[in-house]
Amino acid sequence: MNKTTAAITGVHGVLADYVLTNEELSKMVDTTDEWIMTRIGIKERRILKDPNRATSDIGADAVKGLLEKTNTKPEEIDLLICATVTPDMQFPATANIISDKVGIKNAFSYDLNAGCSGFIYALTTASKFVETGNYKKVVVVGAEKMSSIVDYTDRSTCPIFGDGAAAVLLEPNTDGYGVLDTILQSDGVGRIHLHQKAGGSLKPASHESVDAREHYIYQEGQPVFKWAVSKMADVSVEIMQRNNMTANDIAWLVPHQANLRIIEAVAKRMKLDPAKVMVNIQNFGNTTSATIPLCLWQWEDQLKKGDNLILSAFGAGFTWGSIYLKWAY
Ligand code: UT7
Repeated sequence: MNKTTAAITGVHGVLADYVLTNEELSKMVDTTDEWIMTRIGIKERRILKDPNRATSDIGADAVKGLLEKTNTKPEEIDLLICATVTPDMQFPATANIISDKVGIKNAFSYDLNAGCSGFIYALTTASKFVETGNYKKVVVVGAEKMSSIVDYTDRSTCPIFGDGAAAVLLEPNTDGYGVLDTILQSDGVGRIHLHQKAGGSLKPASHESVDAREHYIYQEGQPVFKWAVSKMADVSVEIMQRNNMTANDIAWLVPHQANLRIIEAVAKRMKLDPAKVMVNIQNFGNTTSATIPLCLWQWEDQLKKGDNLILSAFGAGFTWGSIYLKWAY
């Protein structure tokens, strides 16, 4: 019998209801549709407007939809990992809350924060549990309410982010499908360029921190951009080469959706035909941990059993990595 791998056997996504367009943003801050389209490639993003709906709500909707679609009972799930940078609260983990909301009772669950690389970190981690043979059904959900930490008076960050969630089911496979190789890396030196200044143990929330708007995303766009292009491209090319693949062997690149120019630069380094690159940034913006599973969900109908996919991401930390997976259905 072949080695046991972790195969994705279902995917489901959920989008926030409100469509925030560039036109509306340009009434809130000094920006234009033309600037945002040229520099980032985003036309609109989805926002959870209802103040009572949090990351766990949109995450639970994604997991519920996934379980229904795959005819899986909540009690069959052994493990749920939630990748997020916008947990409902500091503790408990949003994964615990999602599990409760969908009726997952027999699983352990935890959050994983790796910035925009959260989904590929969580998918890699989850696949290791499945490979042991002890975990038969594992859910990985990327869920974000980015609008809760976006400063809508800061024109350099507010056009970028959106809210959304998507989940995949992982099951053991012995026919050579699923997660076949992963490269994950990080370098904390990059934290100075992308972080949330207050709200943690370094700087607990205070009147001063609120007044100074330190609970929002702080980003220095240019260094993040440069690192993202170089690191995402490096690991995407490396994973191709060490699995003896050329661009012809790859059916799809599934890149994190942070900036269209980053995606294009990565595809170019891989010598990939742009038609093989999943891009939905124009409609959803950067949903952090949810971008990659949302792409898989949106493209699910076009994916064929045996397709070689490269997933690639870069994010706060800095964190980055790539995954080679063979689509299983
Ligand atoms: O997913 C997590 C990882 N994050 C990323 O991957 C983000 C990576 N970085 C980026 O995508 C880009 O750096 C940004 C989209 C954030 C910014 O684009 P940029 O081409 O690097 O612009 P910039 O920051 O160098 O700013 C250029 C100019 C500045 O004006 P001056 O100083 O040249 O007069 C900015 O003030 O553009 C100005 N600017 C804007 N103008 C109109 C910044 N934001 C805006 C805006 N509308 N929204």
